[in-house]
Amino acid sequence: MTTGIESILVENRVFMPPEDLVKHANISGMDGYRALCDEANRDPNAFWARLARENLVWTKPFTQVLDESNAPFYKWYPDGELNASANCLDKHLGTPTENLTAIIFEADDGQVTRVTYKALHARVCQFANAIKGLGHKKGERAIIYMPMSIEAVVAMQACARLGIIHSVVFGGFSSKSIHERAVDVGATLMITADAQLRGSKTIALKDAVDEALAMGGCEAVTHVITYKRAGTAVQWHEGRDLWWHDVIAGQSSDCPPVSVNADHPLFILYTSGSTGKPKGVQHATGGFLLWSLMTMRWTFDAKPDDVFWCTADVGWVTGHSYVTYGPLAAGVTQVVFEGVPTYPNAGRFWSMIEQHKVTVFYTAPTAIRSLTKLAESDPTVHPDRYNLDSLRIIGSVGEPINPEAWVWYYKNVGHERCPVIDTWWQTETGAHMITPLPGVTPLKPGSCTLPLPGIDAAVVDEVGEEVERGKGGFLVIRRPWPSMICTIWGDPERFKKTYFPPELKGYYLAGDGAQRDKDDYFWIMGRIDDVLNVSGHRLGTMEVESALVAHPMVAEAAVVGRPDDTTGEAVVAFVVLNGAMPEGDQAIAVAKQLRDWVAKEIGPIAKPREIRFGENLPKTRSGKIMRRLLRVVAKGEPVTQDVSTLENPAILDQLSQAR
Ligand code: PRX
Repeated sequence: MTTGIESILVENRVFMPPEDLVKHANISGMDGYRALCDEANRDPNAFWARLARENLVWTKPFTQVLDESNAPFYKWYPDGELNASANCLDKHLGTPTENLTAIIFEADDGQVTRVTYKALHARVCQFANAIKGLGHKKGERAIIYMPMSIEAVVAMQACARLGIIHSVVFGGFSSKSIHERAVDVGATLMITADAQLRGSKTIALKDAVDEALAMGGCEAVTHVITYKRAGTAVQWHEGRDLWWHDVIAGQSSDCPPVSVNADHPLFILYTSGSTGKPKGVQHATGGFLLWSLMTMRWTFDAKPDDVFWCTADVGWVTGHSYVTYGPLAAGVTQVVFEGVPTYPNAGRFWSMIEQHKVTVFYTAPTAIRSLTKLAESDPTVHPDRYNLDSLRIIGSVGEPINPEAWVWYYKNVGHERCPVIDTWWQTETGAHMITPLPGVTPLKPGSCTLPLPGIDAAVVDEVGEEVERGKGGFLVIRRPWPSMICTIWGDPERFKKTYFPPELKGYYLAGDGAQRDKDDYFWIMGRIDDVLNVSGHRLGTMEVESALVAHPMVAEAAVVGRPDDTTGEAVVAFVVLNGAMPEGDQAIAVAKQLRDWVAKEIGPIAKPREIRFGENLPKTRSGKIMRRLLRVVAKGEPVTQDVSTLENPAILDQLSQAR
C-alpha cells in the first residue's frame, strides 16, 4: 500500500548541540530526553498527570487524567478546575517574578514600553472588571481584532480570566472574514483598535469591525470596545461602542479569576482546511496551557533571565502559545513587536535583538529568506553589523525551512553557537510536537528531528501501517496529547472526518506528508491536501477560489500553489471570465482588479501572485478540474503526464502561454 508521497533527498550535514546547553538545559543531553520518553511510553497517563500536577496551579485537582469514552472527543483532566490567566499572572505574585518585566513592547516607530508582571496583572484585572461590568460572562465568545500590543495580550488574558472564549482574528483579515467568524462563534463582544501601525502605514481596524457588523447576522454583539492606538477618526455607534480607556477608568486592579473546568474552551482560532470555510479550532484550557508552558521550558529552555521573542502575531496560533500564554506561564521577559521586519530597514530584527538583549528568538523561514536576500544586497542591514551575542537559541516555525536558509540563519544570526530549533506543529496541535531540543538533539538542516516526550508521531500508509524508514507517508499522531484540538466549533462531524479518518486506526491525521530517515528523524514534505502555505500562513485553495468566483466577472477559477524562493509557496489562480478572454493591457487591468478583490474578500495575504486567464480549465470528462496539471503549468514546466482523460487537452497550451 502506498500513499503516493515520494521520498525526498535528505540532507547529510549534522550540527551538534552546544556543550554548555547540553550540560545546563532543562532537558540535559540525549539521556535526559530518553528518560522522559521512556516515562511517557511506560504509562502515558501517569506522565501527563505528573506534568499537569507539577506545572499548573489547580483550583480543584483532577482525579481523572484522560476521558476517552467519546473518542476522538478526548477530554483531558476533565474534573480538574483552573484558570489560565491565574496560571500566567497570579502565580507570579509574591515571587521575585512579580517585579520582572513581563513585556517589552516596541512600537512601529521604535518607542519602547515596559510592563512588569505585577503591572500586567493589574491591567488584565482592570480590563476584566470592565467587561464583567458590561455583563459579559463565562462561556460567551469575544472576537479580538487588534494590532500587536500589550493591550492585545491584556484583552486575551482578561477573557481567559472570566472564562470568556476568545477568537482572535488576524488584523490583516478583511471585514468579511471578521463577519464569518463572528457569526460562526456567535460573538457577544468585540475588542478592537481604531487602527494599526505597520511599517509607517496606518491601517483602519474599527472600520472593518463596523463593516462586519453591518453585514448582519451578528446581532448578539452588544459591545465593541476600541483601544485608541493611532488617534484616527472612527464612526461611533452609541450604546454599542465604548473606548478602552473609558471602560477601564476607575476599575479595580483586582479581579478574582473564574475557575473553569480543564476542558472549558480557552479559545477558538480559525484556520484553513481543504474544503469549505475556515474551521474554528477549539482548544481546552488545561491541556493547551500545560503544553504551551512545557514546550517553553523544553523546546526553548526557558529560564527566568531569558528575553524571549516570538515574532508571530497574536492572530495566529504561534502568537497564542508563544506570546500570550507560554512565555507568561513560564515567567520570562518577552518582546512584543508592533511593526514589520523591514521598517525602517531590513536590520530591524537584528537591531531589536541587540537593543533588548534577546536570548531566544523565534521566527518564520519566510522572514529569514527575505532578510537574507536584503542583507546580501545591502551590507548595512546584514546581521553581522549588529551585536547578537545575547542569543542562545534561535527557532523556526510555520513552514519547512530549506537547508540554505537554515545554514544562513545558523551562521549569520546564531554565529554557529545557537542551535536552530525547527519546530513542527499546527493550529490543531496547540503547541510544539516534533522539534529538536537545544541541549539534546544533533541538528540536520531541514529536519524537525524528533518528537517531544509523550508525542507518539509516526509516518504511515493508507491503512495506518508504519512505512519503512526513507519512504514517504502520512504524518500521524497515534496517541492523544493534552493540547490537541478538542473539536471544530459547531461542526463535530467535520472534526472527526478531517482528523480521525476511520481507515487510520483512530490516529490523528496531521495533513502533512513526511518521511523518517535512518536516525528516526522526521522530514516534513508539505501538505497532502489543498492547503497552501504562503509565508507560513495557511490558506485553503477553495477559499481563494470561492472569493474569485464571487466576483461578477468570474465564471470559474482554480487555485494552486507554486514553489517560491521567499514565501515558500505563491498563489497562482487560473480564471475563466464570463464573456471574452482578456488580453494584453486589459488582462493586466482585470488581474489587478481580481487581486484587489481577493484582498478585500479574505485579506492581502490571499492575493494571488499570478492570475492566468483561459477560455476554459483542464477537466476530466466527468468535469473534475485537474489541479495536478495546473500545478505543473504554474511552475512553468512542460506537461509530460498522460492527458488522455482530459476533455480539452489543448487548454493546457493556452494556459501555459497565458502569463
Ligand atoms: O504544513 C505544516 C506547516 O504548517 C502547517 C500548520 O500551519 P498552522 O496551523 O498555520 O500553524 C503554523 C504554526 C505552527 C503544518 O501542517 N508547518 C508548520 N511548522 C512546520 C511546518 N512545515 C515544516 N516544518 C515546520 N517546522
